[in-house]
Amino acid sequence: MIRILPSMKQLSLYNDQLMPALGLGTWKSQKGEVYTAIRQAIAIGYRHFDCAPIYGNEKEIGTALHDALLAGDVTRKELWITSKVWNTHHRAEDVIVALKRTLADLQLGYLDLYLIHWPAAHLKTVKIPKTKEDLISLQQLPLEETWQGMEECVLAGLTRHVGVSNFSTKKIKGIQASAKIKIAVNQVEAHPYFQQKELLAFCQQQHIALTAYAPLGAYERASLMPNHTQPFLSDSPIIQRIADQYDATVAQVLLAWGIQRGTAVIPKSTNPDRLLQNYQAADLSLSTEDMDMLARLDSGYRYERGSYITLEGSPYTAKNLWDE
Ligand code: A2P
Repeated sequence: MIRILPSMKQLSLYNDQLMPALGLGTWKSQKGEVYTAIRQAIAIGYRHFDCAPIYGNEKEIGTALHDALLAGDVTRKELWITSKVWNTHHRAEDVIVALKRTLADLQLGYLDLYLIHWPAAHLKTVKIPKTKEDLISLQQLPLEETWQGMEECVLAGLTRHVGVSNFSTKKIKGIQASAKIKIAVNQVEAHPYFQQKELLAFCQQQHIALTAYAPLGAYERASLMPNHTQPFLSDSPIIQRIADQYDATVAQVLLAWGIQRGTAVIPKSTNPDRLLQNYQAADLSLSTEDMDMLARLDSGYRYERGSYITLEGSPYTAKNLWDE
């Protein structure tokens, strides 16, 4: 495969370290496919990989990273690897245990970024909660305690940065009140139909980088939702018209928009053509007029509702999970 290395756009973190603005998402990347996708992505030029143990594929990603490093396709220093602590390991002493498991699976000595995956906890024995009894409230297990565990991971040299995911401004402030190590990143859903303008402004003011998950509008998440009525971003005639002007695809416009507004984007793909297409989106520069037109598409529509946590009778409700 051709090696394409255009100038990689980077986001500067609070400590002036740089995170590549375009990364590869791995949620729903199937076992048996993800190895090849990671090797192809590295050959194309991707350096940022977004992982999580709950995705069930960290071992195969680890084999791909190991083989790519061994083959000299890339050096560890050039890579930016993110993973996340699952909701079963929010006790301070459990966080490092979870990180060590992830590092063993990824065959790495350290991560670049470790995130609290969700501001919600459940029993250690329960991967996905089925009833309210499976959940542990934030009063019983505060996020501040989990953050202490995250800080220990940094002090132990197992991750270079720590951050959060699916966190509101209110929950970030809660952590900040007692944090000794700063939140480097907040990873949340963001795309033109759900722009998170206030959260982005707050994060930028606090020098917390915002990473947009589901930057293509979460085709797969949307299709999982009952009574889904929101039109897909891919069906938007406005975005299609913008894409046509640049001789680009709708996906490329969505990714360029995300990068140009100052977020990182982590589209998932295991398809070689789309891996390349998405990577090349980082070189697309949209006019101010087109950026403004996309800004007007915000409809406050969240695809990922966290409904697996907000079960009947759960301490987590749509209101207190998102603080909206
Ligand atoms: P595939 O892996 O077959 O490419 P998101 O990261 O927003 O959740 O989107 C991921 C989904 O979008 C996956 O279903 C992925 O499928 C698909 N996808 C990724 N890149 C593109 C693209 N350039 N055009 C259309 N669909 C894409």
